[in-house]
Amino acid sequence: MSVKITFAAPKLPRTGAVAVGAMEGRKLSPSAETLDKTAGGTLSRAIKQGRFTGKKGQILELVAPAGLHNSRILLVGVGKTKDLKDLDLENLGGSVVARMSDTGEAGVTIMVDGLAEAVRPPAERAARYALGARLRSYRFDKYKTKVKPEDKPGLKSVTVMVANPAAARRAFASHEKVAEGVAFTRDLVSEPANIIYPKSLVAEAKKLSKLGVTVQALGESEMRKLGMGALLGVGQGSARESQLLIMRWNGAATPRGKNAAPLAIVGKGVTFDTGGISIKPAGGMEDMKWDMGGAGVTIGLMAALAGRKAKVNVVGICALAENMPSSTAQRPGDIVTSMSGQTIEVINTDAEGRLVLADALCYVQEKFKPKAIVDLATLTGAIIIALGHNYAGLFCNNDKLSDQLTAAGKSVGEPVWRLPLAAQGESYDKDIDSQAADMKNVGNRAGGSITAAQFLQRFVNKGTPWAHLDIAGTTWSSKDTPTVPKGGTGFGVRLLDRWIADNHEK
Ligand code: BES
Ligand code: MN
Ligand code: ZN
Repeated sequence: MSVKITFAAPKLPRTGAVAVGAMEGRKLSPSAETLDKTAGGTLSRAIKQGRFTGKKGQILELVAPAGLHNSRILLVGVGKTKDLKDLDLENLGGSVVARMSDTGEAGVTIMVDGLAEAVRPPAERAARYALGARLRSYRFDKYKTKVKPEDKPGLKSVTVMVANPAAARRAFASHEKVAEGVAFTRDLVSEPANIIYPKSLVAEAKKLSKLGVTVQALGESEMRKLGMGALLGVGQGSARESQLLIMRWNGAATPRGKNAAPLAIVGKGVTFDTGGISIKPAGGMEDMKWDMGGAGVTIGLMAALAGRKAKVNVVGICALAENMPSSTAQRPGDIVTSMSGQTIEVINTDAEGRLVLADALCYVQEKFKPKAIVDLATLTGAIIIALGHNYAGLFCNNDKLSDQLTAAGKSVGEPVWRLPLAAQGESYDKDIDSQAADMKNVGNRAGGSITAAQFLQRFVNKGTPWAHLDIAGTTWSSKDTPTVPKGGTGFGVRLLDRWIADNHEK
């Protein structure tokens, strides 16, 4: 459940909570000035008292100010207006929602004025503000049955006041579809593994058919016929049947475009990763419920694209399996044959993500001949050691694709950092040569994220532009940021939506 957003023509509300801007140097926006006058200078007095200078992100809260009937005024620091970027506006919207959520206010009105020098037209600014508000208002609390009503975040609606509300509404319409995709992804990664397992994840994805997405799934017998020994090996210790989820959105505008090769998004969907026989330690193992984060992003992205009717053809493939130890589980040392024909010695059953992806990558190329592939996977703990929790790791065989993804990530606040990828037969790649098979599924400890990417590259046809995003560090957050409450982040949905919008819908 997230807040309802409406746009309206500028008119200061006489009651309730209202957020107004202040620029760097304690300069009030026009609507803040008006309030200040009505309140006999309460606002300007308040900002003289403290540290509030109007710096970007600062919020000064005045409760029941004398002379006004409003329940509270939020003075929102917007900094220097000419420096304001889209992301800043989103962050401001998110910060207002965060600040309001435990006040007991049911609604807040945001006055977006006084930003004359900012880059975007006012309607687009208002839409960005609203997007931030919407993203931050996400909650996953369906299993909390005992929270008292008075302890629940009560904010239900946000009204954004802007000169041209109809234009703002239009600009927000597609942002809202992306926000819905992000929320869907966050829901999927937040659900525990007794609820989300391969077949139930397929059932969730089937909900996209009402948006016009074609959704299909292959079960184990069909995958066996295709020779997907790598994916099947991972799931063979689980009571839950493995699945290959296939989603298609054919949104290209022209008849010729409709037949054009699609972009392919491939997601790791290990619905729970115990490590298998190479079992993980107990501490923190519950995190492995979100080892389907790549699949979650792929599904949420398809929802976003179909929701906003993106003019592009995209196929989303998710490799879904549960990695369990049992008497039927694969053993270290087992050799499996992948769909590509290449054999893999499974040294460590906990390096399972690359195994399920190997067959998904092979499948998507054989079946769809995509013009580019991006895979997303919570693939390695090593990426968290390398990059922490802000940047996802990017591995790419194509400089142009790499630059596009880097730019898209930067502009939506889901940044990626490129790491090395060697050609086949070179340095890092040699680390996964096996004595017994074509390759083994782990290198040594050093450069663990890179050898994982090298492994995936062995399943990508030469000449196909391909990028791998290791999102192990960014899929889940232990702290709030202005637009992302702690928990499942949905990192990747906005990045890929922007990448597609900027490079493949022209
Ligand atoms: N799902 C994990 C990676 C992971 C770790 C994701 C922490 C999110 C948070 C992956 O399947 C895994 O277990 N990787 C191993 C690889 C190793 C055995 C080569 C790892 O990173 O330890
Ligand atoms: Mn693992
Ligand atoms: Zn895993």
